[in-house]
Amino acid sequence: MTNVIKVANVGDIEDEEALILSAEQTGNNDAIAIFFSDGKYYALNDTCTHEEASLGDGWIEGDEVECPIHAAKFSLCTGAALCLPASQPARTHKVELRGDEIWLHVGVPADGAGTQAT
Ligand code: FES
Repeated sequence: MTNVIKVANVGDIEDEEALILSAEQTGNNDAIAIFFSDGKYYALNDTCTHEEASLGDGWIEGDEVECPIHAAKFSLCTGAALCLPASQPARTHKVELRGDEIWLHVGVPADGAGTQAT
């Protein structure tokens, strides 16, 4: 299932912060967190693959996010679980910029590099 939706404008998400969209808002089977860090946008399924924590509420540094409950780290680029206790990757979604608008391609895997803000 793919769904392309406008989620925010450039500037709406502060550096090292995330915007969390509910499953109802995106049509995905999980909430999706849109991360902004070091000038790039990323999107991951919001629920940690270890238990039920919100990755959008985690600590963002560079191209990684640390789960707020048990401190597993995930790559924002690929969704890969970088350390235990998580071992399964988080699902990525493609983020596209159209001028000042941030668009999300729900269900389309990210290209692994993040989306550079202009
Ligand atoms: S819930 Fe994320 S590491 Fe445990």
